[in-house]
Amino acid sequence: MVSLLRLRRSTTILLALTLSVVTFVLLANPLSPVADSAGISLSVQSTGAGPRYPLCSNQTSANVTWPSQSWRAAAESKYGGLLEDKFTIAMSTFHRPRELHRTLTALLAAKIPSLHEIVIIWNNFDEKTPDPFVSQHGVPVRYRKPTRDSLNEKLWPDPEYRTQAILLSDDDVYYRPDDLEFVFQMWRKFGKDRMTGALARCATALPSGDWDYNFCSQKAHQDVYSMVLTNLAFTHIAFLDYYFSDDPAVTKIREYVDEAFNCEDIGLNFVMSMLTGSGPLLVRGSSQYINLDPSGGISRQTGHMQARSKCLNVFAEAFQCMPLVNETGRIEHGVKHNVWYKSVWNRIHG
Ligand SMILES: *[C@@H]1O[C@H](CO)[C@@H](O)[C@H](O)[C@H]1NC(C)=O
Ligand SMILES: *[C@@H]1O[C@H](CO)[C@@H](O)[C@H](O)[C@H]1NC(C)=O
Ligand SMILES: *[C@@H]1O[C@H](CO)[C@@H](O)[C@H](O)[C@H]1NC(C)=O
Repeated sequence: MVSLLRLRRSTTILLALTLSVVTFVLLANPLSPVADSAGISLSVQSTGAGPRYPLCSNQTSANVTWPSQSWRAAAESKYGGLLEDKFTIAMSTFHRPRELHRTLTALLAAKIPSLHEIVIIWNNFDEKTPDPFVSQHGVPVRYRKPTRDSLNEKLWPDPEYRTQAILLSDDDVYYRPDDLEFVFQMWRKFGKDRMTGALARCATALPSGDWDYNFCSQKAHQDVYSMVLTNLAFTHIAFLDYYFSDDPAVTKIREYVDEAFNCEDIGLNFVMSMLTGSGPLLVRGSSQYINLDPSGGISRQTGHMQARSKCLNVFAEAFQCMPLVNETGRIEHGVKHNVWYKSVWNRIHG
C-alpha cells in the first residue's frame, strides 16, 4: 500500500516536472519565430545619441502630422457601407499546392460564422486560376491572379471585397477555425485601428542611429512589439486603400517593396501606425495558430534580417520619422490563463 502510494506520488511529480518543462519552453518562447528565422540580429546597447529618424510621437517638425486624422472621413464615406460584422480572407499562394490544400481544407471544414468569402491571390502566374466554388457551409472561394508580379498585390483593396475586415494570410499559416472567429471578434472590439494578428516583430534603435528589425526581446520591461506580420493579420480595408494612395511617402514605400521584393508587411504596419498613432495587437485563441512552415520562402534566404532592417530605415526616411509604436500586451482567449500550470507549480512547491 505504501509503495503503491509512493509510486503514485512519484508518477505525479514526474508528470508535474514534465509539464513544467513543457510550460517553461512555451513561456520562454511566446513569440516563437516562424517565418523569417534565418537571419542575424544585431545586439543593442543603450546610447546617448538618438535614432536618425526619431519616433513620430517624439518629433517636432511642422511637416509631420502624427497621427494623421484626415484620412478617417474619406475612409468612412468610401468603406462605411461594407459589412462590419463579417470578414474576408485574402490568402496569398505561391506554388505550394499541398499547403494551400491543407489550409483551405481546414478553414472550410468547420463553420466560421462571420467568414464571408475567401479570395486566393494566385501567384502561380504560369497556371490557369482554378474555378471558383462555394463550400459546404456556403462560403464562396474565388481566385485572383494579380496583374503583375509584386508583393504589393496582396494588399490591393479589391473593389469586390464586401467586408471592412480583411484577414491577410499566406497559404501555410492559419488560426484554427474556432480561434479565427474569436480573433475577428477581438478585432471588432479592440483592433480596428491596428494590425491585429498572430506574429509579432520589433524595431529597435541601434547606437549607429539605424533602426534594427528583430524577433523582439523577452527580457522583462523590454518584451514589447511594434509590428504584426501580414501572414496572419486582420486589417481594415481603409488601410489597404491608403497603402495604394498617391501620398508621396506611401508611393515611395510601394516602389521600394517592388525593388526589394520584400517588406510589404512592414510597409502596411508603418501606414497604420502613421495614420492612427496606434501599435499593432497580438491575439491568440485557445490554441497556437498552425504553421505548416514549408522551407524555401523568401523569408528563409540569408541576409533576410538585414534586408528587413534596411526597409525600416528606408520607410522611416520616407515618413521623415519612425511611426511604429511599441505595445506591451496581447489578448488571449479565456479567463483561466495558465491556471493549470500554476496548480502544478503549487503542487510541487506548496
Ligand atoms: C526623443 O527626443 C529626444 C529629444 O529630442 C531625443 O534625445 C531622443 O533621442 C528621442 N528618442 C527617440 C527614440 O526618438
Ligand atoms: C518642410 O517641408 C518643406 C517643403 O517640402 C521644406 O522646404 C522644409 O525644409 C521642411 N521643414 C522641415 C522643418 O523639415
Ligand atoms: C521599443 O522598445 C524598445 C525596448 O525598450 C526600444 O529599443 C525601441 O526603440 C522601441 N521601438 C519603438 C518603435 O518605439
